[in-house]
Amino acid sequence: MEIIRKESTVFQFETREELSVSDQALLQAATEVMESAYAPYSEFLVGCALRLANGVIVKGSNQENMAYPSGLCAERVAIFYAGANYPKVAIVEMAITARAKNYPLHGPIMSCGACLQSICEYEQRFQQPIRTLLQGHDGPIWIAEAGTATFLPFQFNVPELKK
Ligand code: THU
Repeated sequence: MEIIRKESTVFQFETREELSVSDQALLQAATEVMESAYAPYSEFLVGCALRLANGVIVKGSNQENMAYPSGLCAERVAIFYAGANYPKVAIVEMAITARAKNYPLHGPIMSCGACLQSICEYEQRFQQPIRTLLQGHDGPIWIAEAGTATFLPFQFNVPELKK
């Protein structure tokens, strides 16, 4: 018997003031763009900010549609924008935050499985993990240095599909 997978570490911080200036700025960017969410159906607003290797910050918010499955999560709005506009630049870090209009959201929210799978392909493309910061409307901040592998340990990855 051998261990083929070990748990990845998630660091928890109690307040934004404990974070580096650069982490605070990325979370702040996610918080600001969250307000642009178009979420009349769920009334659940999500903001995502990416820091690219060239220093550019790309932001996305969830965009819903009357035909419910046609909407898109904040994370995929952001990473697909980065992929479309900066196709050769790696994504280094990602901050995600959320707030619900009708109830308090004190803890971090986790990206959905479809977003994690989409994000992990960007990690594979650029051969580097996307350091991830998560925070709810308030409450603790989680930081995963190892990126999506922390939250989606067994990812769909068949390199032969690209040939
Ligand atoms: N949502 C995101 O933007 N990111 C996630 O990872 C999970 C869910 C959005 C989709 C929908 O607009 C709302 O949150 C409620 O599900």
